[in-house]
Amino acid sequence: MLFIDTDPGVDDALAILMAHARAPGVAGLGIAAGNVGLHHTTANALKLVELMGVSTPVFPGAPQPLVRRAADAAFVHGADGFGDTGYLPARRAAHNEHAALALLRLSHAHAGELVLVALGPLTNLALALSLDPQLPSRVARLVVMGGAVTGQGNASVAAEFNFRFDPEAAHIVFSRWPRFDLVDWELTLRHALDFERFEHWLAGGDARAAFFAAISRKARAVNRARRHPGIIVADALAMAVALRPELIINAEERAVAIELDGGLTRGATVVDWQQRRTGAVASARIVLAVDQPGFEQLVAAALGARTG
Ligand code: RIB
Ligand code: CA
Repeated sequence: MLFIDTDPGVDDALAILMAHARAPGVAGLGIAAGNVGLHHTTANALKLVELMGVSTPVFPGAPQPLVRRAADAAFVHGADGFGDTGYLPARRAAHNEHAALALLRLSHAHAGELVLVALGPLTNLALALSLDPQLPSRVARLVVMGGAVTGQGNASVAAEFNFRFDPEAAHIVFSRWPRFDLVDWELTLRHALDFERFEHWLAGGDARAAFFAAISRKARAVNRARRHPGIIVADALAMAVALRPELIINAEERAVAIELDGGLTRGATVVDWQQRRTGAVASARIVLAVDQPGFEQLVAAALGARTG
């Protein structure tokens, strides 16, 4: 059973489609502010759930980071977070239970079998953890998309967007969660999706592919303009790791800290690669390589397309 904390966001949308196309069940979507404001990320999640025709509950979370405000990513995802397509809003409403409280409740209801996937800033997870430090003991697995493990960020020189947006939240989760899988920005760049192959999936897919083609048009143009090696979908890669952990080809367990004060480095992931005897716990399993065909099969299936 999955619980997905997310700031949809275009790549979040693909990850959510992947989860519903394959997972044993999605207990809920916890919504964060990040790519764009909470109003839009919540509306986008509701639209996706309606498009898929599923009853997955949507729980809005924190409207801003824990301590300091941060810039959003509307320049990639569009002002509304879904490519400014002007889609007809979903008819259904979000639940009036806070994402952090819903996560705690569902961690009891599905104790020991919940796979928690964090695809946005970690504000809601940090709040849940602060309310109940025992949360990790009830969660089977945590997969986090975030960070830049050798300091090659996207939101700043050194920091990746999710952790740059709420560094204090990332610090709380990283310092208190005993072990988790980390899918960082640099891994995502190594697992870009070929532009032409991706366009083929969009053209040959179903209504999900048509919707994703529309909401991702702006983001795909940014990918090309930035001369990325292909379509970069960080959250989709993290979801592939969550859905099929056997796709992990290589990973290293290391202690990772979050920089909170650096003028140039706030939000950066500081990895103890040499495993100095600092006493810090090597709680992060840093994923370093993923089976690309297996990843692509999950993406294509989520769009109703075939990889062959
Ligand atoms: O840095 C990539 C991450 O930031 C992804 O989760 C993307 O959706 C944005 O939230
Ligand atoms: Ca995201």
